[in-house]
Parts: sequence; structure tokens; C-alpha cells
Amino acid sequence: MAERRGTPITRIDVMWLLFVFLLAILPPLYEWHKQLILAGIGLFQIFEGNILGRLSPRRRNFLSILVKMALSTLLVWHSGMIFSDYYPIYYLPVVSTAILYGVVGTLLWTLAACASYCAFVIPALRHYTLSTGGASDLAMRCLFFFIVGIIVNRFVIESRDQARRREQLAARLLETNRQLEQAQADARRSERLAALGQLSAGLAHEIRNPLGVIRGSAEMLNQKLHSADPITSELAGYISNEVERLNRLVARFLDFARPLQPKVQHQPLRPIVELALKSVQEQQSDAKVQVEWQESPNLPLVLVDSELIERVFTNLFSNAYEAMPEGGTLRVKMKPVVSDGRGGVEIEVSDTGSGIPAEDQEHIFNPFFTTKKSGMGLGLSMVSRIVDDHRGRIRLETKPETGACFRVFLPGE
Ligand SMILES: Nc1ncnc2c1ncn2[C@@H]1O[C@H](COP(=O)(O)OP(=O)(O)OP(=O)(O)O)[C@@H](O)[C@H]1O
Ligand SMILES: [Mg+2]
Repeated sequence: MAERRGTPITRIDVMWLLFVFLLAILPPLYEWHKQLILAGIGLFQIFEGNILGRLSPRRRNFLSILVKMALSTLLVWHSGMIFSDYYPIYYLPVVSTAILYGVVGTLLWTLAACASYCAFVIPALRHYTLSTGGASDLAMRCLFFFIVGIIVNRFVIESRDQARRREQLAARLLETNRQLEQAQADARRSERLAALGQLSAGLAHEIRNPLGVIRGSAEMLNQKLHSADPITSELAGYISNEVERLNRLVARFLDFARPLQPKVQHQPLRPIVELALKSVQEQQSDAKVQVEWQESPNLPLVLVDSELIERVFTNLFSNAYEAMPEGGTLRVKMKPVVSDGRGGVEIEVSDTGSGIPAEDQEHIFNPFFTTKKSGMGLGLSMVSRIVDDHRGRIRLETKPETGACFRVFLPGE
């Protein structure tokens, strides 16, 4: 329901004041009681927000209509009852009701206005009889109260709906605008990161050549110093080992930074995943890890580059094996799913290892995030990049007691 505002005078107030003023200048002009009641009606119309402002909207609306109804009845009573020329004053409570209430409220209050107006017939019947013309005249006046009430109410409801729709539209626009700004900020960040990536890739490439020279020299030095002082030869060994480590890091980084050009084709996923698992098992032949495999029948083909997707699963399986140094179970589940209207396969890779602490979860897909001594933190960022390039999705789900669980969706179309 609409709420009556406080002090400012609205256009409707001005209209009502004009209406009350016109009633005031109609004869009898010097009837002070009439003028007093009309002044009361006008003042209440302007100051009702201040007078009833502290009440709850429900009570405020009810009292506002009740007071207007009472003042209107007083005016009609004082100015000739059923013969009063001021009966249109009842439009004031009727129209106010139509503005403040719904259809049922409007009908009920209009009925009350008609009842209080028609009640003046009773004292008149003591001296007069009600002619057919008089009765139809009365019925007409009441009918007009209803017509005006319903029409005003319809317009008010319509305009309230429109205002609500406009507000919703404005809120949606605001949200879209916010998303657009966010997307622009993300795009700027990606551009900066891409530039940084290119720069570091160039730098890594340049570092590789001198590294090769240092490694070769360190190895020769190592051979020459073999028979010399053991400390000197140990130091030369350090140089050689560390240079080798640096070399591996640079090679992996260059591999990571190289742009991907997936050559996709429709193919079954299982052989690719099996190949990845086999290569990890060969590398980790000492691990006491049991593999459980679950596969739904009728898996659709997926649209992937087999080499890249093999890298995805090699990384996920390596991480799982590394998380279970004491042994455990690696579970691989494959099932057909439809995601965002696209059919494909969802692969769940879960382990019974240490799991991923909540504070690390948002970082694990970032490059160079690692919690391992010998890790580089490039595995999962590579995985997410490849999956993104296939228009797929990867999600981490961890329950502290069950280790890590990665869900990968790969589309088939
Ligand atoms: N299955 C898992 N269980 C527990 N922790 C995991 C698991 N998979 C990933 N992590 C966490 O996420 C981090 C990042 O993994 P990511 O594969 O990117 O790098 P990494 O394994 O440390 O190094 P690398 O570059 O050699 O793969 C890991 O260091 C580890 O803390
Ligand atoms: Mg890894």
C-alpha cells in the first residue's frame, strides 16, 4: 500500500485544496461551521503526514480514511443532510482509499461512504417520502462513488506496477554495469599478465643458453677436479646439480608459457586417461596406491586434443600419488553429464591423501603455488589452462577426511 509522505505538498494535495476551496466559496458563504469543517478537511489533507506520521503504515492509512470519512459526514450533516449540495465531499475518502488500498479495500471503504451518506435518508423519512426519482438519484450518486473509486484504484495499481518494473530494470542495469566493469578490469589484468608472461618467457629463453654453458663447464670442471681436493670437487658438484635444477625449471616454465594450440577431435576418453595413469604408475612404481575405476556405460565421445588431455590427467594423478606417500586409494569415476546445455563426460579424480587446507584452496590453480619442496606449482595451473581451452570445467571438492577430489568436465560437442 502507498504511504502518505510527510511535509511536502503534492500535486494531489493541491487538487484537493482547490476542490475544498471551490466548496467553500459556494453559498452559503458566511456559514462559519461549514467553513470551519472545510478548513479542517483542507488542513488534515496537508498535514496528515505529520499528524499520523509515527503510526505504522496500516494504522496510518486506516485512520486517515476514517478521519476524512468523519469530516465529510460532518459537513454533509451540517449542510442539509440528504439534501446537502456538499455530498461530493465523499469523493475525498473514496479517492484516498483508491490510492492507499487494493481493490477489496477500495470497495469496502466506498461501501462505507455510501452507507454513511444514505443513512441521512432515515431522519428525512420522518417528514418526507422517498420518491422513485429521489431513490434513483441517490443510487446514481452512490454508483459514481464506486466508479470513481475503481477507476482511480486501477490507475494507481497500474502505475505502482510500472514503477516496480522500472525499479527492477534499474537494478538489473546496475548489476549488468557492475559485471561489465568487473569484466573490463579482468581483461586489463589478463592483458597485463599476458604481457608479463611473454616477458618472462623471453627471459627464461635467454637464461637457457648461458645455463647450458655453465652446466657444460661445471661438468668439465668436475671431471678435472675429480682427483683433486674432495671439498673443491664437492663444490663443483653443487654447481653442476643446481644448474641442472635451474635448467629443468626453465624448461618446464617454457613449456608452460608456450601457447596451446589444441588439435581437437572426437574420441573416447578412457584410453587417454589410462595412458596418463600408466605413465604415473611407472614413475611411482614404489607407491602403495590402489586404483579403483568406475565407469558408466555408454559414455559419449569427447572433443579433445589427446596429448593435452593426457597431460591434465598425468598432473592430477601425480598430485594424488604425491599426496599419499604412505599409500592409499586413488579413485577414478567417469560418467556422462550435461553442463550448461552441453553434453560431455565428467571425470572425478579423488584420493585418500592429506587433502588441501581451506586457506590453500583458492590458490592451487595459480602458477607457482606449491607446498612441496621439489614442486614448481605449475601442474594445476597448466591443467586449468588446458581444460579452459577445451571449453571444459575443473572444480576442486575437498572433504577433510577423504583427501582431495577434482571434478573435470570435458564437452563432447
Ligand atoms: N591431490 C592433492 N592432494 C593434496 N594437495 C594437492 C593435491 N593436488 C594439488 N595439491 C596442492 O596444490 C599445490 C599445487 O599443485 P600443482 O600440481 O600445481 O603444483 P605442485 O604439484 O606443487 O608442483 P608441480 O609443478 O611439480 O606440479 C600442491 O603443491 C599441493 O599443495
Ligand atoms: Mg603437481
